[in-house]
Amino acid sequence: MNMIKILLGTMLLLPVIAVAQQAVPVYKNKKSPIELRISDLLKRMTLEEKIMQMNQWTYGKNANANNIEASKNAVKPEIGSLIYRSINPVYRNEIMRKAMEESRLGIPILMGFDVIHGYRTVYPIPLAQACSWNKTLVTQACAVAAKESRLSGVDWTFAPMIDVARDARWGRVAEGYGEDPYVNSVFCVASVKGYQGKNLSDPYSIAACLKHYIGYSLSEGGRDYRYSDVSAQTMWETFMPPYESGVKAGAATLMSGFNDISGIPASANPYTLTEILKKRWKHDGFVVSDWGSVENLIPQGFAKDRKEAALKSFMAGVEMDMVDNVYVENLQQLVKEKKIPLANIDDAVKRILRIKFRLGLFDKPYVEELPEVERYYQPESMAIAQQLAEESMVLLKNTNQALPLSKDVKQIALIGPMVKDSVNMMGSWEGQGIATSVETIFAGFEKEFNGKAILNYAKGCHFEGTDETGFEAALEAAQKSDVVIVCMGEMKKWSGENATRSTIALPAIQEKLIRYLKKAGKPIILVLSNGRPLELGELDSLSDAILEIWQPGIAGGTPVAGLISGRLNPSGKLAITFPLTTGQIPTYYNMRQSARPKQGGYQDIATEPKYWFGHGLSYTTFTYSKIKLSDSSFKKNQKLMAEVEVTNTGLRDGKETVLWFIADPVASITRPMKELKFFEKLELKAGEKKTFKFEIDPMRDLSFPDANGIRHLESGDYYLVIQNQKIKFELMD
Ligand code: NOJ
Repeated sequence: MNMIKILLGTMLLLPVIAVAQQAVPVYKNKKSPIELRISDLLKRMTLEEKIMQMNQWTYGKNANANNIEASKNAVKPEIGSLIYRSINPVYRNEIMRKAMEESRLGIPILMGFDVIHGYRTVYPIPLAQACSWNKTLVTQACAVAAKESRLSGVDWTFAPMIDVARDARWGRVAEGYGEDPYVNSVFCVASVKGYQGKNLSDPYSIAACLKHYIGYSLSEGGRDYRYSDVSAQTMWETFMPPYESGVKAGAATLMSGFNDISGIPASANPYTLTEILKKRWKHDGFVVSDWGSVENLIPQGFAKDRKEAALKSFMAGVEMDMVDNVYVENLQQLVKEKKIPLANIDDAVKRILRIKFRLGLFDKPYVEELPEVERYYQPESMAIAQQLAEESMVLLKNTNQALPLSKDVKQIALIGPMVKDSVNMMGSWEGQGIATSVETIFAGFEKEFNGKAILNYAKGCHFEGTDETGFEAALEAAQKSDVVIVCMGEMKKWSGENATRSTIALPAIQEKLIRYLKKAGKPIILVLSNGRPLELGELDSLSDAILEIWQPGIAGGTPVAGLISGRLNPSGKLAITFPLTTGQIPTYYNMRQSARPKQGGYQDIATEPKYWFGHGLSYTTFTYSKIKLSDSSFKKNQKLMAEVEVTNTGLRDGKETVLWFIADPVASITRPMKELKFFEKLELKAGEKKTFKFEIDPMRDLSFPDANGIRHLESGDYYLVIQNQKIKFELMD
């Protein structure tokens, strides 16, 4: 009897259990596979809700808890994404709660922000990071940036910028990894790994965004937003490799550029956005337009109005519209008019939802609400900031071993507008960095030389202008000192977006100050902080040594002082060439051979740049053995091992980076003079010997793309090039 009762009872309960199970829709069930969750959610969405997912607003410079309510009210709960400018996790959670609880389906908002070289703990600018040749450090720095961002409410960074840049007039040269496609690829992967971690759903990972797809850095004359004439060959050889590497490394999103690629704008280009990215590379995340770049199709002369702009961008493969509301205003009508198939809308929305699911936003929409002290400037983050700044600084010149300073130096003149600067040292796109947290050069010197030398400070001049009233005091400081350290360079607003310069020389006042200081007859050490390669002009000949410190972020003071004192040994090398003059632009190491190599130089200046890509001195010396190859010829299905033994022949420990280039002298498509294929940085104790190795993989290292991106591998002679050595080998069929 009892048994029957139990059975009956259970049977009666079954429908209730089923209903309860059904009550949790598949898309809300953590255990369901992501693709099922996406399809389930998509089925429930109206067209309007779908289009809202493709819309991004900019929002919320609001860390003030008292104002949360008002600004929260203005956000639509159905919005797909916000450019989130607050640092307050409580604010983020409030807005997110609105989306989760007030929108019909509870779809989380994706919070994006420009975390370019650190969030609060600001690291050196990306161009400097590349000069460290230390990809592990870059990954670590990006992981710290991701954690600080996530804990402040950001889920998605608009980084890395991997536009290979060869025109230093273009202000955004600071934001990328220099002039070489391989270097951009390596650091792209390093940063994607750092931001996204092992898994996007980890609590401290954020989604990366490769930008600006593609060819943006070729804008004519370095003038931002201008036309860029990117031949298909150049696109494949120079611009595509970092993007392909980033996509392979799992980058969640890409941003389409403002530029016009040989007549078809980057934000409405079906070839790059759909053919290549989605079909050939099978990228399953999404593309966001750059700020207003959909609407910009109108001034670009590619769309007659906002509706046509929406149609062209969307159909080319841009899934999310950054801030201009062009999609939200027009896509519904375009679907009604059957100009846009619903299937395309669904595919676009799926891509956006996929990233939200992968980030775990549906299951954990809220972030921890920790106080600032627990989020920022953690000791390990600061250690990374300092190490990265140190390794990115490049000793360009060191006549008569002017550096490191001799122990006999008792008075140091510290002169120049950068000595006590805490704003410009952060560089452009400083995230949520604050100037009061920047360690100035002066502070670094005070620590370094405490009790050892007297510091005589004088500003001397401003970064620009004609005011020479500070010159005399600067000269006095120089006269009473044993050595003169002049710290000058660029203001941060001179680089970054919309920051083009017609000359890459510093304003005349700065050179004038150095010339004036020369009167003191003391050795002059020039410390340069800037966001681009500079035309050094007389600054070079007036200085005994030059240390390029770039814009090192918040922890630059200690490394600068340590490198000058000799406590640290410089190990950075240039990831971008310093032209002799602005007129030499473009000059980069991997140019093609000329038809008349001995002719075609400049009549009025030398044709060689001032400092080549790869240049950088150390306080020790490294001697390279002859390159050894495992064979002088090999077949296309084999690999060739190259080795070089490097000895630290100086008196102190140091780090050396070996750059391995390949030159292909004759091919069916002409090749650059040489191309970097691999690099490795190792530490060598004084007197220590280490073997650096590079395994040549024919398809990876010897093949080249044609104008359709199809790779060709041709038999014949090649050269392996390192430093001043060149060794021939043959690739057989
Ligand atoms: C415009 C810039 O070109 C882009 O790099 C940036 O990510 C967006 N604005 C968002 O701030």
